[in-house]
Amino acid sequence: SGEDLSKVLATRILDVPDYPQPGVVFKDITPLLGDPSAFAPVVAAMAEQVRAAGATRVAGLEARGFILAAPVALAAGVGFVPVRKAGKLPRATYREDYHLEYGTATIEVHRDAFAPGERVMIVDDILATGGTAVAAANLVRDAGAEPVGLSVLMELGFLNGRERFEQAVPEAEILTL
Ligand code: PRP
Repeated sequence: SGEDLSKVLATRILDVPDYPQPGVVFKDITPLLGDPSAFAPVVAAMAEQVRAAGATRVAGLEARGFILAAPVALAAGVGFVPVRKAGKLPRATYREDYHLEYGTATIEVHRDAFAPGERVMIVDDILATGGTAVAAANLVRDAGAEPVGLSVLMELGFLNGRERFEQAVPEAEILTL
């Protein structure tokens, strides 16, 4: 049930103060990943979101998003697409630059990752400022597909990622557990 899942998340995602820098509270999902009685229902719930959205691909965001997105794609019976940090994909790519708190970052996807018009669910662990998720949605669009949803374990509400994503990607629904 939803109640069980929220308890699973509350007890298996740890707050780590002052990591990676002072003042930042890091969300550590490794306890969740290490417990199959928690990981399995999380993957099942995300896979149901993929099916409900009619998505035909799951795009996972490097690195922690990969860990969730690959089993979610398999459970939903659709293909997995890696969205990678710059310089990691071997063939022709689309690239998106985006702003971080300090400096910028670049992510890429293979140009032929999606079929034209394909419906794509973007999967990641955390929605923080939304910069990564918006860049990923832009890559999906660049590659000729449609971002229909963003599925995350949790959002950090105070960073306003939801508002930023909704404004930039109004066609995609934000799904949490
Ligand atoms: C984290 C997290 C999300 C992103 C969220 O990834 O896994 O992908 O940041 O932040 P945002 O909403 O402000 O963009 P990180 O860049 O730390 O990479 P990692 O998964 O490789 O550790």
